[in-house]
Amino acid sequence: MATNRTFTMLKPDSLEKGHTGAILEKISSAGFKIVAMKQTQMTTADAEAFYAIHKERPFFGELVEYMTRGPIVAAILEKENAVEDFRALIGATNPEEAAEGTIRKLYAASIGENAVHGSDSDENAAIEGAFHFSGREIFSL
Ligand code: CMP
Repeated sequence: MATNRTFTMLKPDSLEKGHTGAILEKISSAGFKIVAMKQTQMTTADAEAFYAIHKERPFFGELVEYMTRGPIVAAILEKENAVEDFRALIGATNPEEAAEGTIRKLYAASIGENAVHGSDSDENAAIEGAFHFSGREIFSL
C-alpha cells in the first residue's frame, strides 16, 4: 500500500560537518513536508536493532559505531511517491556513484559515511518511522 511517506535520518557526519540546515533546505525545496522531526542519538542497541538486516555484513560493526557516535536528525517526510522520489534526491549509497546535485554527491564522504538514510520501501518507511516516533509526534500538515 502506498503511504506517501518515507523516513530519513541525517547521519552523524552531516551534523558534525554542519550540513543539517543545507540538507533540510534541499528536502523542503524538493517538495517534501516534514511531518515529524527530532534530533536524537541512537544507542548501540538501537542501531543494532535498526540495522538488524545488515548484521551478517562485514561492515556491521563499523556501521553501528558510526551511527551511534553522535546525534542524528530523524524525520518522517510526506510527498506523493515519497520513497522513490526521496531515494532519487539522496542519490546512490556510494557517493562516487551518486548523480550530480544529489544530497550524497554534495555531502557524503564515502559509502559508509553517506550523510543520509532513506527508506527503501513503503513497508520499511512505516517500520522505521515507528522505530523513532510515537503517534503523537507525527503531524498532518
Ligand atoms: P544506508 O543504505 O542508509 O543503510 C545501510 C548503511 O550501511 C548504508 O547506508 C551505509 O551507511 C552502510 N554501508 C553500506 N554498504 C557499506 C559498505 N560497503 N561499507 C561500509 N558501510 C556500508
